[in-house]
Amino acid sequence: MTSNAAPPAATTAPVFNRRNPLIARLARRKLLTEGCDEKETWHLEIDLQDSGLTFLPGDSLAVFAHNDPELVTDVLDALGFSGDETVTAPNKEDMPLRQALTENCAITAVDKKFLNKLVEKVGDDAADIAQLLLPESKAALSDHLWGREIIDFLLRFPDVKWEPREFVGILKKLNVRLYSIASSLAAKPNQCHLTVALVEYESQGRRRQGVCSGWLSRRLDEDTPIPCFVTPGKGFRLPDPDQEVPVIMIGPGTGIAPFRAFLQHRQATEAKGKAWLFFGEIHEDTCYFYQEEWEAYLADGTLDRVTTAWSRDQADKVYVQHKVTEHGADLWQWIGQGAILYLCGDAERMAPDVDKALLGVIAEHGGKSAEEAAAYIEQMLKDKRYRRDVY
Ligand SMILES: Cc1cc2nc3c(=O)[nH]c(=O)nc-3n(C[C@H](O)[C@H](O)[C@H](O)COP(=O)(O)OP(=O)(O)OC[C@H]3O[C@@H](n4cnc5c(N)ncnc54)[C@H](O)[C@@H]3O)c2cc1C
Ligand SMILES: NC(=O)c1ccc[n+]([C@@H]2O[C@H](COP(=O)([O-])OP(=O)(O)OC[C@H]3O[C@@H](n4cnc5c(N)ncnc54)[C@H](OP(=O)(O)O)[C@@H]3O)[C@@H](O)[C@H]2O)c1
Repeated sequence: MTSNAAPPAATTAPVFNRRNPLIARLARRKLLTEGCDEKETWHLEIDLQDSGLTFLPGDSLAVFAHNDPELVTDVLDALGFSGDETVTAPNKEDMPLRQALTENCAITAVDKKFLNKLVEKVGDDAADIAQLLLPESKAALSDHLWGREIIDFLLRFPDVKWEPREFVGILKKLNVRLYSIASSLAAKPNQCHLTVALVEYESQGRRRQGVCSGWLSRRLDEDTPIPCFVTPGKGFRLPDPDQEVPVIMIGPGTGIAPFRAFLQHRQATEAKGKAWLFFGEIHEDTCYFYQEEWEAYLADGTLDRVTTAWSRDQADKVYVQHKVTEHGADLWQWIGQGAILYLCGDAERMAPDVDKALLGVIAEHGGKSAEEAAAYIEQMLKDKRYRRDVY
């Protein structure tokens, strides 16, 4: 090669991010709660199409969803627009109003900017809302907004006149939602699996659905482009497969997702340490997500123990933290062997309750005072022997 020859072309992995998302496609969707009429949770397999998108167990997929077209129509009807009006969407592109409301604007959650504009337009008839916007009414405002969306305010004040551009101008941009990735590239190349709970509820006489969980569970099909990118799971990582480090994974509900990725990865990399999975859902017969997979992992040694908690199969609630307490002696032994403890799922109720149960286990089986047990957990968190991914 002569000195002025061009260097060989660098092979750089494509970079996908918020500004340059991968456009993926749905390959398969399976209901994980077949026969259960109390909740709907889906397993999704997304085809990454040789895109080069990479991720590690513990990462999440950020997904750009579309709003429900029926809700968009309701909003347009309430505003008295056809949807063909040209507007500038939050992404700064000019497009028809219907498209902007479907693909670009957050049209459900209500914020102060929207309410201030409404009060300005309505005047005295919106005095109750003006009151809620005062700094001292923060809690009352939050109570009022629980279960109310933009459509509710448009329907309450049907005489308010909006300009299409003005309306779009006060809406926030439709943001991504994150989902813990439920597969490992080592086991499922070119695929990204998710475990998605449909958010669905009724309020103010309307049936409502979460924007992204509704889109992923109900409206998406194999032809729908899925703009997405990976967000790293800060510290939610498996130990090196060659290390004899036990792992304890506690993941009720959709909290199971990253642990499915962990277990696929552990099997593919023949990880050495022991593994114990805690799972909880409402009913064993209809909501035991991925049961056959855990059984296969138990049979081939990828998993050593599975402990389940079914909350609605008996009169009293049984949750994962009750199982943590019940198996406290063994858990304490695993912790003594250097186990890493992982917790994933609901942040509001489950995670603090599991923390309390762990404190109890450490106090009882470790012979520690409440303060010493709290310090022990703090140290586990600092040493990254207790890792949480809660939402
Ligand atoms: C790191 C991370 C990982 C995650 N992983 C997963 C995962 O693996 N699987 C999964 O399913 N989710 C996961 N989530 C949650 C997910 O990102 C979304 O928040 C969830 O799917 C809801 O989004 P949505 O667009 O469907 O609902 P949204 O349109 O955002 O609506 C949710 C809002 O609806 C309102 N609401 C909900 N229920 C009621 C009710 N009963 N009454 C009145 N109002 C109500 C609340 O204001 C709530 O904030 C994760 C979140 C994070 C941060
Ligand atoms: N509003 C909706 O339609 C909707 C739908 C899906 C998810 N979500 C929210 O999304 C998050 C995750 O939901 P998910 O479907 O993964 O599961 P989840 O709602 O957290 O439920 C999974 C299991 O955890 C149990 N649970 C409830 N409270 C608990 C606690 N304090 N400690 C331990 N376990 C507890 C549930 O029991 P019980 O339910 O029997 O109490 C169920 O058996 C939650 O914040 C949930 O509120 C909302």
